[in-house]
Amino acid sequence: MPTSTIRTPRFFQLHRIDDAALADEAAAGLLQPAAQVPPKFFYDALGSRLFDAITELAEYYPTRTEAAIFAAHGAAIAASALRSVGPAPLMIDLGAADCAKAARLFPLLQPGRYVAVDISVEFLRQAMGCLQREHPQMDLTGVGLDFSARLQLAEEITGPGAALVFYPGSSIGNFAPADALRLLREARALSHGGALLIGVDTIKDAGTLEAAYDDALGVTAAFNLNLLMHLNRLLGADFDVRQWQHVARFDAAASRIEMHLEARQDLLVSWPGRQRRFAAGERIHTENSYKWTPQGFGELLRHAGFGQVGHWTDERGWFAVFMASG
Ligand code: AVI
Repeated sequence: MPTSTIRTPRFFQLHRIDDAALADEAAAGLLQPAAQVPPKFFYDALGSRLFDAITELAEYYPTRTEAAIFAAHGAAIAASALRSVGPAPLMIDLGAADCAKAARLFPLLQPGRYVAVDISVEFLRQAMGCLQREHPQMDLTGVGLDFSARLQLAEEITGPGAALVFYPGSSIGNFAPADALRLLREARALSHGGALLIGVDTIKDAGTLEAAYDDALGVTAAFNLNLLMHLNRLLGADFDVRQWQHVARFDAAASRIEMHLEARQDLLVSWPGRQRRFAAGERIHTENSYKWTPQGFGELLRHAGFGQVGHWTDERGWFAVFMASG
């Protein structure tokens, strides 16, 4: 191939990773009367690997159920997307990580341009290098952005025209409904009249849900407890992981799994300049994972401005893949 036709991915780091600001945010959460630390603190290097391990667990059905929906209905999903965005579309992948979920759709969608968004471009470089070798003609861009605060990309990055915004994995469930609505509105604006393809976990019996977040091997417990190790490094705190236990409960009224870390005994935790007492049984709230009925999520998408909404699900109705456009 002539060298002039070999492309290389472009990268933009739009979000400044500021450890001092992160430490302040974590400390402020720990010092609240009901302590809470946002779930983004799960994802240090070990936490990201533990999350990958979670997706392999027998109890954690979302990842494999979503993949099964794409395997069974991929052609119909792609046809529906292409009706909204036209041939050789721009695909914008939110929370892309290793880009594997999007890459599995490439044979069906044949995107001309692919923009992968994750919190740090460093997470994207290797995967995008491999993708470029497999798809030498595709225009690839990696973007480092914390879109949990605001989702917006300049035209310099996306280029013109309608886009297919792809947000798989039921990560939308980690947003409270009002924040999810805001993110869906921003995703609609980003699609420029194209479409949003999004994975959503559905409400089911509490036993199945709680097992998915409290597995027999203790991988989710390790994922939750590792947050304390991360805080020890970030804040210089002295959490002793053995003094805490993992708790995951389905709150049916709020329609969400809540994850907490619970003190096994009375404790004093210190970090430079501050300390906090925890009584035995007191908790740090680390994550909410909202579950939706297909009807409820369809209404949320319409409320966000989408005129056309459809979805595919598995035989048990445990997960739903939505396409929203208009
Ligand atoms: C990333 N997110 C969709 C996962 C979830 O299911 O809410 C995070 C997770 N927490 C515990 N297990 C998985």
